[in-house]
Amino acid sequence: MTRHLISSADLGRADVEAILETAGSMHDLQRREVKKVPTLRGRTVINFFFEDSTRTRSSFEIAGKWMSADTINLSGKGSSTSKGESLRDTAMTVDAMAVDALVMRHPASGAAHQVAQWVRCSVINAGDGTHEHPTQALLDAYTLRSRLGDLDGKHVAIVGDLTHSRVFRSNVITLKKLGARVTVVAPPTLMPSGIGAWSAADDFATSWELDPVLAGEHEHGPVDAVMMLRVQRERMSGGYFPTAREYTVGYGLTRDRLETLVARNPEVLVLHPGPMNRGLEIAPEAADSPQSVVLDQVSAGVAVRMAVLYHLLAGDDGAPSGPPSPATLAGATTTNEGAVR
Ligand code: CP
Repeated sequence: MTRHLISSADLGRADVEAILETAGSMHDLQRREVKKVPTLRGRTVINFFFEDSTRTRSSFEIAGKWMSADTINLSGKGSSTSKGESLRDTAMTVDAMAVDALVMRHPASGAAHQVAQWVRCSVINAGDGTHEHPTQALLDAYTLRSRLGDLDGKHVAIVGDLTHSRVFRSNVITLKKLGARVTVVAPPTLMPSGIGAWSAADDFATSWELDPVLAGEHEHGPVDAVMMLRVQRERMSGGYFPTAREYTVGYGLTRDRLETLVARNPEVLVLHPGPMNRGLEIAPEAADSPQSVVLDQVSAGVAVRMAVLYHLLAGDDGAPSGPPSPATLAGATTTNEGAVR
C-alpha cells in the first residue's frame, strides 16, 4: 500500500481487496451501539476542504473519530488561504504541526498530487477538480460487491456528465481492476476528449446513446448496475446541452426507463454518488426505488474511509500488512464495555 492515496491507480487489485475486506469489518462496527475503537489513538487527521462537501467531509470526520484519531476540519474560506496564502505554504504549515494525514478536496485537478510532494504526512485525495475521487470509487465497489458478490464479469453502466466527473475516472479504474465490464454513456458534448484511446487501452465500452445500453443491446450485454452521475453545472462555462428537459429525455434515468430496466432485470442496482439533481439526471421514482442503493453508498462511505485510514495510518511505521486482526476488533468490544475511550 502506498503512503498516499491520490489516484485509484495507486492501488493494485490486492490493495483494493484488502481495503474492501477491512471495510466489511468496519461496517460491522458501524452497526454497534458504541462504535469507537482505539485503532488510531494518538493520530491526527486534518480534513482540508477547499470545495463544498456533505458526504465525503462528514464521513472522513466520523471515520477518524470512531477510530479515536484527533480530527480537525478546515475549509478554504475559514483558513488563511482566504488572505492569499499559497497552497504550498498552507500545506507545509499544516504538515509542520506533525499531523499524520491530510484529507484534501480541491477544485484544481492535480492539487492532491502536488501537495503530496511538499509534506511528510499521508495525503488522501477527497476529490481534485475533474480528476479523481478514489475513496468514492472504493465505496461504490464495496456497495456493488455487497449486493452482487464478486464483480468479475458484472456489467456496470456509468451515465452522465463524464467530462466533469472525477467519480467516473476513479470508478473505471477500480471497477476494471475488480474484473467488471464497464460501459460509459454520455452525450458527445460531455464525453471526455481522449476517451477513445483510454477505453481501448483499458477495455471498456463507450456509447452516445443510453437506451441501447439499458436494453442490453450494446457490446457488454445486460447491465447489472447503472451509476448515474450528477450534471455539474458549476463546472460548465458553456452550453453542453440545449435544455435540461432534452438532457433528461436523452440521458436521464426516468421512471419509464427504470420500469423497462426492472422488467428486464428485477435485481438491477441504481447508484448515484450524490448530490443528486432530482428530475434532471435521475427521477425521484428511480432515486427512491427498491433498486436504489444511494443511501447504502453513503453508509459504506464511513466504513470504507475507516478502512483507508486504517491501511494508511495504523501500525508504527504506516500501513499494516492486512486487515485488522480479531484482536484489533476485540478492542471494539472493550470499547463497547466502556474500558477504552
Ligand atoms: N459524492 C461526494 O463526493 O459527495 P460530497 O460532495 O457531498 O462529498
